[in-house]
Amino acid sequence: MFNFKEKTVYITGASGGIAMSCIKKFYNAGANLILTDLHLSDLEAVCRTLNLAPEKVLLMAQDVRNPEDAITAVEEGIKKFGSLDIVIPCAGFYPKSLVKDLSDLQWKDTLSINLDGVFYTIRAAIPYLQDGGAIVNITSIAGHKGSFKHGHYATAKGAVLTLTRTLALELAPAIRVNNVSPGLIDTAMIQDLMNEQGDLLISQTPLNRLGTSDEIANAVMFLASNHASFITGETLHVNGGLYIAS
Ligand SMILES: NC(=O)c1ccc[n+]([C@@H]2O[C@H](COP(=O)([O-])OP(=O)(O)OC[C@H]3O[C@@H](n4cnc5c(N)ncnc54)[C@H](O)[C@@H]3O)[C@@H](O)[C@H]2O)c1
Repeated sequence: MFNFKEKTVYITGASGGIAMSCIKKFYNAGANLILTDLHLSDLEAVCRTLNLAPEKVLLMAQDVRNPEDAITAVEEGIKKFGSLDIVIPCAGFYPKSLVKDLSDLQWKDTLSINLDGVFYTIRAAIPYLQDGGAIVNITSIAGHKGSFKHGHYATAKGAVLTLTRTLALELAPAIRVNNVSPGLIDTAMIQDLMNEQGDLLISQTPLNRLGTSDEIANAVMFLASNHASFITGETLHVNGGLYIAS
């Protein structure tokens, strides 16, 4: 259904659960991949697990809090593949605290990973993005509704929603920019939350289960593809109905 041959896709947080599903699907659809995360060793493990051919991937360490890392990743990607078509800033950090208890450092670090990191990654990519390209940001149900004990995370994700709509205006007509907004997805990120209140949260979800990383990757691929060629500045919710029900 999807063909990304001759396309280069840049994914941050690439050893995470949702990113790995995106990698698998874009790779199988023929894409070249620029994959970054904090630790190169984790990315090498992803390559082994998914059996990715070295000529189709570039692995780079990138701390999304550091603007220089984004520039280096993009420049090395252009050297290897010659062009850049799709950006998926997938790195994320989901710490827990009441707002009243947050230190300056916790606030800044959470905003830095979940918001600044998206900005640095996209800003570095913009000069190289080909006409017809796409950016798909990964926001969260928390960015729409707020989130008890995750106010710093929810604030950052809400800001990404706004950044996406602004970029959609600024980069049109050449580049489309959209959000996928997941609900509860079965990855390492929400293990603590599920251990604490998983049964309650699943019972509040009309489809009565967690989502899978593959279900998020399907939405990302759709928005990145020509099947979504008249869609920009929009948000695709993927949450099993939790958003409307809770
Ligand atoms: N799992 C969910 O229920 C859920 C819900 C809504 C949104 N999301 C979003 O989906 C995206 C992927 O999350 P996931 O569920 O796959 O989580 P995950 O924890 O499996 O992956 C997150 C990845 O981000 C990387 N990362 C963290 N800090 C980084 C930094 N400073 N620089 C570079 N990389 C960094 C981690 O190393 C990890 O590989 C995130 O943006 C997350 O906020 C997830």
